[in-house]
Amino acid sequence: MFTREGCLEELKLRVAKLSPAAEGVVVLDLRGEANQVLPSFQPGAHIELRLPIGVPRCYSLCGEPTDGDRYHVAVALAEQSRGGSSYIHRTLAAGDTLLTSPPRNNFPLVEEAASYQFIAGGIGITPIITMVRWCEQRGRAWRLLYLLRSRRNAAFLSEIETFGDKVNLHFDDEAGHLFDVESFLRGVRSDTHIYCCGPSALMEAVEKSTADRLPGHVHFEWFTQRDIAGARNESFTVVLARSGREITVAPNQSILEALEAEGINVSFSCREGLCATCETAVLAGTPEHRDQILTPAERDAGKTMMICVSRAASDSITLDL
Ligand code: FES
Repeated sequence: MFTREGCLEELKLRVAKLSPAAEGVVVLDLRGEANQVLPSFQPGAHIELRLPIGVPRCYSLCGEPTDGDRYHVAVALAEQSRGGSSYIHRTLAAGDTLLTSPPRNNFPLVEEAASYQFIAGGIGITPIITMVRWCEQRGRAWRLLYLLRSRRNAAFLSEIETFGDKVNLHFDDEAGHLFDVESFLRGVRSDTHIYCCGPSALMEAVEKSTADRLPGHVHFEWFTQRDIAGARNESFTVVLARSGREITVAPNQSILEALEAEGINVSFSCREGLCATCETAVLAGTPEHRDQILTPAERDAGKTMMICVSRAASDSITLDL
C-alpha cells in the first residue's frame, strides 16, 4: 500500500499548456526547469496549487506517474468558485509560473486488492483515471462507474471508452434520471476494494450503501469539508504539551485559528481538512474528526487530528505542540 505523505517543500512550475478536456474542464501541463526531474507520485496523489490570488487549492494528478518532467491536473470550473477554479479558467495562461506543493497522497491504492471498483462523479475522475491506468497496465481486475450530468462534461471520455465493458457510463440527461448507486453496489463483490471520488451527494450515497462492507475496503477522496451531523460546537480547551499553555477554542473557531490568535505558528495549507499539512498528534482527550483524510481506523484510534477543522469531543484535548 502506498502511504500518506506530508511535506512542506515548494515547487516552482511553469504552465506549459492549458488544454480543454471537456466543457468546463481544463488540463494544466506543469513543468519544472529544463531537465528537472519532479518528485514522483503514485495513483491517487494530488498537489496543492498556491495561486497568486492567495487561494491554495488541491488538485489530483491525472497524468502518467512515469512522466518525471511534468504534472497534469484537470480543473473543472466550479459553479460557485471561491476564486481557485475561476482564476485558473479565466486568468491563468501558458508561460505563467505557479508555486505548488510536492505530490501528496491521501487516497492511496491498495496494491494487493483482489479487484477494484472505481466510482467517479464528474471531475472526481481525476484521481481515478490514474488508478484505472495502473490496473490496466498490470492486468488487474477492475471496473469503473463514471457518472455525469452530461456527456459534454466528461473528461478523459475518449480514453475511457477504449476500456469497453469494464466501464459503466451514465449521463443523467441521456438517461433522464439519476443513477441508482445503492442497487449497483449490491452487485459488487464483498472483497472488492471500492474507490470513490465525486460530489458530496454521490460520496454520501456510496458511504451509506457500503457501511457494512469489510473494514478498509471502501476509500473516498473528498473535494470539500463535510458537514458533520450532530457535531458538537462548544468551546473547549487545548493544552499544548510542550509548553503547558492552555488555550480556549471558541465555538465558532478552529484550533488552528485559536493558536494563530495567540501568536503560535503551526504548519497548515488548505485549512479545509483535505491536505494533512496540519496533522497533529493527540496526547490526551478525544478528537471530533471533521477532516477527509483519516481512515475510519485512524479516526477511532484518535492518535492524530487535523487541527484546521477537527475539534474536541472532550472538554479538553492535549496536543503534541
Ligand atoms: S491545513 Fe490542510 S488538512 Fe489542515
